[in-house]
Amino acid sequence: MAMNMTSRVAALNPEVEQILKPFKLSREELMLVMRRMRKEMEMGLSRKGQKEASVRMLPTFVHYRPDGKEKGSFLALDLGGTNFRVLLVRFCPQTEGGMKHVNQSYSIPQEVMQGRGKQLFDHIVDCVAKFLSNQKITERLPLGFTFSFPCKQISLDQAILLNWTKGFSVPDCVGKDVVQLLREAIQRRQELDLEVVALANDTVGTMMSAAFQDPKCEIGLIVGTGTNACYMEQMKNIEKLDGDSGEMCINMEWGAFGQGEQHSLAEIVNEFDKLVDQQSLHPGKQIYEKMIGGKFLGAIVQNILLNLKEKGCIFRGIQTHTLEQENIIRTKFLSKIESDSGDLLHVKSILEELGLPCGIEDRVVVQAVCLAVSQRAAQLCGAGLAAVLERMRENRQMDLMKMTVGVEGSLYKLHPHFSQILKDTVKDLAAKCEVHFHLSEDSSAMGAALVAASTRAS
Ligand code: GLC
Repeated sequence: MAMNMTSRVAALNPEVEQILKPFKLSREELMLVMRRMRKEMEMGLSRKGQKEASVRMLPTFVHYRPDGKEKGSFLALDLGGTNFRVLLVRFCPQTEGGMKHVNQSYSIPQEVMQGRGKQLFDHIVDCVAKFLSNQKITERLPLGFTFSFPCKQISLDQAILLNWTKGFSVPDCVGKDVVQLLREAIQRRQELDLEVVALANDTVGTMMSAAFQDPKCEIGLIVGTGTNACYMEQMKNIEKLDGDSGEMCINMEWGAFGQGEQHSLAEIVNEFDKLVDQQSLHPGKQIYEKMIGGKFLGAIVQNILLNLKEKGCIFRGIQTHTLEQENIIRTKFLSKIESDSGDLLHVKSILEELGLPCGIEDRVVVQAVCLAVSQRAAQLCGAGLAAVLERMRENRQMDLMKMTVGVEGSLYKLHPHFSQILKDTVKDLAAKCEVHFHLSEDSSAMGAALVAASTRAS
């Protein structure tokens, strides 16, 4: 379908085709991305290279993956996407699936996401108190905290925040131990009695949840608001850490790939990516994430449409001020626009909703723009994942490696083509890896409960 649409556009206007050209990556370009990712992984793990690497390769202190025998009840908090979530997770080996959970989402106002630390952590604890009271929970529960930002971990329950990403910016927390900040906020709410036992990145949580059901899972992948991956690395390859035996999960923080001195994505980044970066909350940072994550795809589309409008290729002769408003094209629109076929009636209704002209020519162009942007996102993500898989396969000296990837995130789950393009790219670039993608709901948060459970098992 994608090809037909693209050729319809070319038939309508070759200039559109020209503007979308930088989004059509060749196999060579994807292989270049894969090679560069591997190089940065190597640097990030080494003692000397770690300072220059854009991919930080953060040790998580998770040496263990679940075995399905976990027991007990845990609270899990999940901070990192658009909502804050609280879960009560009960592991019960006898029941189907091995666990039960209830959860509740709470919104985080923009002024809290970009305010002061005390306000943010008090808000979190406030939501936890509401949850406990709604669920009538009075027992003292151990708590696992899914915190989806880069942290330098010193242990499972000590995590120094390195910087904020996505839509968060709470400067007075940077350089502080976020577990401690949470404990202090709990103490301020005197009626609460909770024991924070572990912090985990969402990638780690997702890997742990998938591994709970499928022991072959050694990679966690997130493609939602942002993007990131983690995987199990042999200790002997983590040069920057002492100790040679066993393995540890590494939170790659691959969203930062392409930032800084290395310019690893210099040949791929185009004028629209640069604009989105400049307009973002953290300019110059998270370059790879800004080409893949759901928070940014709509902004890329919007910048392309504005450019097409200026060139007179779309929305001809009509004032379209709405197109200049910030964040007007949401990623969920992309999913809807790209699912459409025939007369593109969904595209029509979205354009109408946005107050934009919606003639058939405009609809076709808008759809082609969305397709090009999300296809590149899925391919770039696939090239990164292929780098991780190939590194693991070569380290294990296997001719063929079977691997399960635990995956979570709205883009992977809800977008009509993203997951398929990602899978096709991985199959092409890492042909010696047989990959199974394990998608599960709420897995990143439940995984923090599993990490918490691991502290009880040892
Ligand atoms: C951002 C965060 C990272 C997280 C990812 C997905 O890249 O820095 O920690 O895993 O988003 O939520």
